[in-house]
Amino acid sequence: MTTYLEANKQRFLDELFDLLRIPSVSADSAFKADVRRAAEFVRDKLTAAGLDKATLYETPGHPIVYAEKIVDPTKPTVLVYGHYDVQPADPYELWESPPFEPTIRNERVYARGACDDKGQFYMHIKAVEAMVATDGLPCNVKVMIEGEEEVGSDHLGMFVTENKDLLKADVILISDTSIISNETPSLEMGLRGLSYVEVQVTGANRDLHSGVYGGAVANPINVLAQMIASLHDENGRITIPGFYDKVEDLTDEERTELAKAPFDLEEYKRDLGIKDVMGETGYSTNERTSIRPTLDVNGIWGGYIGEGAKTVLPSKASAKISMRLVPNQTPDEITDLFTKHFLSIAPPGVTLTVTPHHGGMPYVTPVDSVEFEAASKAFEDAWGKKPIPTRGGGSIPITALFEKELGIKSILMGFGLDADALHSPNESYGLFNFYKGIETIPYFYKHYAALKQ
Ligand code: BES
Ligand code: MN
Ligand code: MN
Repeated sequence: MTTYLEANKQRFLDELFDLLRIPSVSADSAFKADVRRAAEFVRDKLTAAGLDKATLYETPGHPIVYAEKIVDPTKPTVLVYGHYDVQPADPYELWESPPFEPTIRNERVYARGACDDKGQFYMHIKAVEAMVATDGLPCNVKVMIEGEEEVGSDHLGMFVTENKDLLKADVILISDTSIISNETPSLEMGLRGLSYVEVQVTGANRDLHSGVYGGAVANPINVLAQMIASLHDENGRITIPGFYDKVEDLTDEERTELAKAPFDLEEYKRDLGIKDVMGETGYSTNERTSIRPTLDVNGIWGGYIGEGAKTVLPSKASAKISMRLVPNQTPDEITDLFTKHFLSIAPPGVTLTVTPHHGGMPYVTPVDSVEFEAASKAFEDAWGKKPIPTRGGGSIPITALFEKELGIKSILMGFGLDADALHSPNESYGLFNFYKGIETIPYFYKHYAALKQ
């Protein structure tokens, strides 16, 4: 297997480069044809890797790519999930090399989607190819790569519900998360959920002269800023009534266990160029970004932002606000609590609308399962170290849906690093991580097949 990888290293990377050159930005309809081109590319590579029935399943949005190889119905089946769509690359001017012209610098591939998730799901296609070409597959494999993850997986839910037989499997394997570092491999056992809303505050029926009306009529920007500021108290806690009601506190043992993961606060601050961190009192930085829920403004706009000064009292102000959720919080409930609270604190001088966007459920995977054990052993084989179980801060909403609809648990075997700059300019993925992933994945199949017997 390792020999096969060695012999094909350059080709694997060339193929990834071809995939990265396709700007499959799901959020922007200008890229619709490119998104499809990426799906077709993935389909063809699945066929070339030796999988059967590689097909594009159409949806009202972007297509879902599916393929499978059933070697023996009595063997366990692994369902690989990933996404071939990427986040918009804006702002382009902050990229050191163009986002869709993959470039290697310092042993890393720079391109939009290099880590999230093209570089990561492509490892699975190459790992399957290697197994098929050498010792054969120890498990059956089904592969489902979607094109709408970055915009909320709107149509994947329906596809899953309607294709339960097709997707029947024993475990879902996903590489779309991170490890602590290349020296300290880790396995995520949980992801946060998401609730996302857009709010708009309207004052007067038109923009006004701020000298003639200012001081007497609500300024929607002033009002919105004040309302947003009131959403956190002095301890960094979210003030929405009921927000924490369902949040379960971890036991001291669980917190101690999580705190064992190596973390260097000084290095963290240096990397981000900040003098200090900030967050909920009583929790460590790692806890704030994993086991605690949060509320963040993602964008805010209104009024005059052109050159020079314009003395205007704007008619409208808006913001996009996201909340990361932890187990037992549901996006519907939290969106509801947010909406009620935000409406209740709006002064009578303005009207307020709250529009919910996509959301997602939090997810935890049990660590005392054969699935987790197989993944842990795979890391041990390839990295020479046991991976540390961690809780991740990001969201892959579809994992909770897989569990609900298919009754299958997901294993989050990601190989990225926080430094890979996902969703940011200059996203990258280490060559080490790409190849190490391809090496690690077959060990999972091997151990899983053995443990399931
Ligand atoms: N791969 C990420 C999620 C992720 C990143 C998990 C790093 C753990 C570590 C995924 O593509 C993503 O960006 N998810 C979105 C949610 C989605 C609904 C847009 C997110 O977390 O913001
Ligand atoms: Mn992703
Ligand atoms: Mn992403």
